[in-house]
Amino acid sequence: MKAISLFLIGLLLLTGACAPVSSDKKEQTDKRIKELISQMTLEEKLGQMSQFDPGQLGGPENAKQAIKDGKVGSILNLVGAETINELQKVAVEESRLGIPLVIARDVIHGYRTIMPIPLGLAASWNAEIAEKTMAVSAVEAASEGIHWTFAPMIDVSRDPRWGRIAESCGEDTYLTSVMAKAMVKGFQGDDLSDPKTIAACAKHFVGYGAAEGGRDYNTTLIPEVQLRNDYLPPFKAAADAGVATFMSAFNDLNGVPTSGNEFTLKQILRQEWGYQGMVVSDWASIAEMIPHGYAANKKEAAERALMAGVDMEMASDCYAGNVKALLDEGKIDMATIDRYVANILRLKFDLGLFENPYTDETLAEKTLLAEKHKEIAQQAASESFVLLQNKNELLPLSNDISSVAVIGPLADSPHDQMGTWVFDGNKENSVTPLTALKAKLGDAKINFAKGLEISRTKSTEGFVAAVEAAKKSDVAVLFLGEESILSGEAHSLANLNLQGSQTELLEAVQATGKPVVVVIMAGRQLTIARELQLADAVLYAWHPGTMGGPAIADMLLGETVPSGKLPVTFPKTVGQIPIYYNHKNTGRPADYEQWTDINKIPAEATQHSLGNTSHYLDAGFEPLFPFGFGLSYSSFDYSNLELSANSMGTDGVIEVSIDLKNTGKYEAAEVVQLYIRDRFGSVTRPVKQLKGYQKVTLKPGETKNVVIQLKAKDLEFFNGKDYVVEAGDFDVWVGTNSQEGLHAEFSVNE
Ligand code: GLC
Repeated sequence: MKAISLFLIGLLLLTGACAPVSSDKKEQTDKRIKELISQMTLEEKLGQMSQFDPGQLGGPENAKQAIKDGKVGSILNLVGAETINELQKVAVEESRLGIPLVIARDVIHGYRTIMPIPLGLAASWNAEIAEKTMAVSAVEAASEGIHWTFAPMIDVSRDPRWGRIAESCGEDTYLTSVMAKAMVKGFQGDDLSDPKTIAACAKHFVGYGAAEGGRDYNTTLIPEVQLRNDYLPPFKAAADAGVATFMSAFNDLNGVPTSGNEFTLKQILRQEWGYQGMVVSDWASIAEMIPHGYAANKKEAAERALMAGVDMEMASDCYAGNVKALLDEGKIDMATIDRYVANILRLKFDLGLFENPYTDETLAEKTLLAEKHKEIAQQAASESFVLLQNKNELLPLSNDISSVAVIGPLADSPHDQMGTWVFDGNKENSVTPLTALKAKLGDAKINFAKGLEISRTKSTEGFVAAVEAAKKSDVAVLFLGEESILSGEAHSLANLNLQGSQTELLEAVQATGKPVVVVIMAGRQLTIARELQLADAVLYAWHPGTMGGPAIADMLLGETVPSGKLPVTFPKTVGQIPIYYNHKNTGRPADYEQWTDINKIPAEATQHSLGNTSHYLDAGFEPLFPFGFGLSYSSFDYSNLELSANSMGTDGVIEVSIDLKNTGKYEAAEVVQLYIRDRFGSVTRPVKQLKGYQKVTLKPGETKNVVIQLKAKDLEFFNGKDYVVEAGDFDVWVGTNSQEGLHAEFSVNE
């Protein structure tokens, strides 16, 4: 067998099909693909279209036989350069055509050096650090033989009941689009064949984040206007950034499962966007069209997915078992199969796998957890933290503080601080807040009492020690939130209050009269109104990753200054969900926070006396914290909002500028945010939309003129029929969050 494959490779080389990379790499690759496909049997083509988990291949020996027989094009969840090389050797040297495997893994926010969860990275509003974290993730994963990651996850997510909001970049289309581009660039670099880069995957295409009720895998009903204006743009940004692959999703979108959806996969992705990359299904999402009730059996599921344009099937065998019959029945043609196989082979050629199928097995040891990687992880964590409250400027704590009570289930939880979607991070490598604070202040200054074993612990037996620790300390710092297992896929929550007796623990410590700092680690925004009343300062740390501890310690002690801004709206209560900043105005907008305490409603109040506007009688309409909110240890003043013009044509540009001054005593970064409102449109428009921002670092007293360009093209939207830039009047705000900013007006003329 080996002789045949070498002969074929020789033949391909002679025919120029395998010639070293020529000036027109794409043309050469296409020639090689065409030549290879002309050699392939149907079974070998279906093998390329099949991706399996090692467990599905019946263990290593059976896997080798299947690979040898050309039945496997890709394997996911196989790690270790040696193991991967061993199976790759079978593919390259023992299968008939020697087509290499492409090895995939969920490297979502780090491989061994775990970065903040993507929701935290989005809170940094720093595309550069997001790119760096994904570049580190890529080089570490590649050193262990991984060629392809199933990231970035760029589903716009407006419902914190949905556990996968942790993997997202939050509720905003623009910020998610910025992060999508940065993360793709981070994973893929400039050349996919570079052994330090891996192929990225824009997922989950599309609308998965709109699962009804925030219940994972649930139905999504998204009108085309909303789909095109809110959910598709980040995927278009990823496609424009050159993302090598897309992943279809689990959800049915308006009644059609996204893994069999011709409108999204064929009309939008291929025809409108001209996307040339490869599409993989989600885990068994093709077969799941049967329980969806969209396919009666695997054969019909295969037909639906093929007609829609899913090139590779993950973790189910609808294609392998049914394409021959579909071909025989004329329901699908070989040209279509060849096109899908070509997309798969192109990924492998672009990755350089035909030239370099093996991984240097010495790489991992000198790559994983490199000091530079940990520095980037710590910087990303620092920039992800959002300071929500800081009464009496309790933070930063002074370095000469004599004693600190460190309390709570997440103060020393190396596993949980890594967050969800961590397969290759080791908790042994995590540096916890307790460890970091001891390192900075000395053990003698730290009085540690966990108070609760885990975030869900109800028993209060640990409170005595926690209260004692607080009483003998100058300040109490409580690390609360949610364990990582409560976050992520299939982990939806109907209640977003702190689990277990965490709030009671905070009440007990607060009752000592000591100043209280609360640091929350979570994979989503939680309903923390009560905790805000009890605490003096609250720092939201998301799940900060391997270096979360030192990043938190440095920030508590003032060596770094909070600069994060919320990528999601915080609800007062779960009953307000969905609640997001770029909502529609309705015909009866609530214009002030009229009702937040139902007990204030007069008895026998008359029917219309409470104001017929869009609000809750028991929660008003305002969120707990708005999108874009985040405090600093310093303070900033915005002045001199100026527009280069008060109107522009539908192809024009206006420069919007403000003077930003650091009026505080710390060097600090501020995210200057630009929002617009299209006052009237051919369809109703959001009350605000983020259209630009700049993260600016200023020394105390320093002033900088910040200029953000606003193009008329940025105002384009889909109105149900066309993408349009409509003439009309607009508001523009520039400020520190989506609710506070300097205001001006401009118009767009035909
Ligand atoms: C999972 C997820 C997807 C992931 C894939 C492979 O179910 O939905 O995001 O990449 O399967 O693990």
